[in-house]
Amino acid sequence: MGRIRVGVVGVGNCFAGLAQGIEYYKRNKTQNLGLMHETIGGYSIEDIDFVSAFDVGENKVGKPLSEAIFSDPNYVKWVDTISCCNNTKVGESPILDGIGVYVASMIKPIKQTKKLEALEKEAVEEIERTETKILINYLPVGSQKATEFWANIALKTGCAFINCMPVFIASNKVWLRKFEEKGLPVVGDDIKGVIGATITHRTLAKLCLDRGAVIDRTYQINVGGNTDFANMLERERLESKKISKTEAVQSLIPKKRRLADKDIYIGPSDFIPFLGNTKLAFIRIEGRMFANVPFNMEVRLDVDDKANSGGIAVDAIRCAQLALDKGVSGNLTYASAYLMKHPLIQMGDEEARQNLDEWISELEK
Ligand SMILES: NC(=O)c1ccc[n+]([C@@H]2O[C@H](COP(=O)([O-])OP(=O)(O)OC[C@H]3O[C@@H](n4cnc5c(N)ncnc54)[C@H](O)[C@@H]3O)[C@@H](O)[C@H]2O)c1
Repeated sequence: MGRIRVGVVGVGNCFAGLAQGIEYYKRNKTQNLGLMHETIGGYSIEDIDFVSAFDVGENKVGKPLSEAIFSDPNYVKWVDTISCCNNTKVGESPILDGIGVYVASMIKPIKQTKKLEALEKEAVEEIERTETKILINYLPVGSQKATEFWANIALKTGCAFINCMPVFIASNKVWLRKFEEKGLPVVGDDIKGVIGATITHRTLAKLCLDRGAVIDRTYQINVGGNTDFANMLERERLESKKISKTEAVQSLIPKKRRLADKDIYIGPSDFIPFLGNTKLAFIRIEGRMFANVPFNMEVRLDVDDKANSGGIAVDAIRCAQLALDKGVSGNLTYASAYLMKHPLIQMGDEEARQNLDEWISELEK
C-alpha cells in the first residue's frame, strides 16, 4: 500500500480539524471510536499525508503547514503540536472572491502582486513537485471563482477533487464531464457532518415519512462563531449554500408533497462570536399523523462543527484514493450521496451507506 498524497486548498478550521483529528488517532492507537470506516481500500486514516497546501492568509502563506494549522483565525486546538507536514509549506493561492466583507477583519490576506497566470504556474509546479494526487477544497462559502480556479488546477495536474463547500462542481454536469474526460474522480459538493444538522434533520424527516406522516412545515436554524459563520452573514454569498442545505431535506419528501418555499427555511442564521467552532442547530418539524392529528418536534443540536467535518473528510479522501488506485473516474456517486449535502444524485442515507459499503467491498476485491 502507498501513502495518500493530499493537497489542501484553504488552511482554515475544517482543515485544522481534519489534520488534528488524524494526529489524535496517531497518538491513541487503540482508539477507533468516531470513525465510520476503520479502513477503506486498505488505507487507515494514518496513511493520509498532506503534501501541499494553499491559502491567502498573510500569517499562513510561506509557513510550514504544521504551524499554519494553529494560526488565527483557526480555533481548533485538540492537540498542541502536529507531527505531520513540517516540510509542507503553504503556497499562495489567488484571492479572487475568497474573502467576503465580514471576514476581511479576521483574515488578513497577503498583498497579492503576482498575476493569476503566475500563481497558476506556481500551483501546478508545486502539485507536480509534491506528487499531490488528491486536492481537497475548503474555500469559504461564495468562492465561486476561486473554487473554479482550483478545480481547473486539479484537471491540469491529474488530481482527484474533493469539494467540501457549496460551489457546485461534482453535481454540475459541465464540470463533471471535464473530470470524466480526464479520467479523474470527483466527490462533492458541500460536506455533511458526522452528527451534523443536515443528517439529523434528514433522519427525523425520514422517520416522519416512514411512519406515514405528512410534513407541513420545517425549519433548521444554525448559529456559530467562526469565520465560516461570519462569512455567511453576507447573504449574497449564500445562494448555493441555501440550495445545498434545503435540497438535502426536500429531496427526501415525495414530489407531490414537496414543501412550498414559504414552508421550509433552512440556513445559517447568525454569527455569535463567543461560540467559536461550536455550532447550534435548532430544528423544527410540524406535520400530521394518523387521523390527520397534528404533531411537532423540536431538536437542539450542540456540536463541534469541525469534528463533524473531519470525520467525513477522512472517508472522502480514502474513497478518492481507492478510485484512483482502481482507475475509477467521474462522480463517485455513492461517496458523494453519503458524505455530501449536494451530490449529483440524492438518495436516502441508509441506501447511500449500503451502496457505498458495497462499492468499497467490490473495489477492494
Ligand atoms: N462542518 C463544517 O465545518 C462544514 C460543513 C459543510 C461545509 N463546510 C464548508 O467548508 C469550507 C471551509 O470551512 P472552514 O470552517 O474551514 O472555513 P475557514 O474560514 O476557517 O477557512 C477558510 C480558509 O480559506 C482561506 N481562503 C480564503 N480565500 C482563499 C483563496 N482564494 N484561496 C485559498 N485559500 C483561501 C482562508 O484564509 C481560510 O484559511 C466553508 O465553505 C464551509 O462552509 C464546512
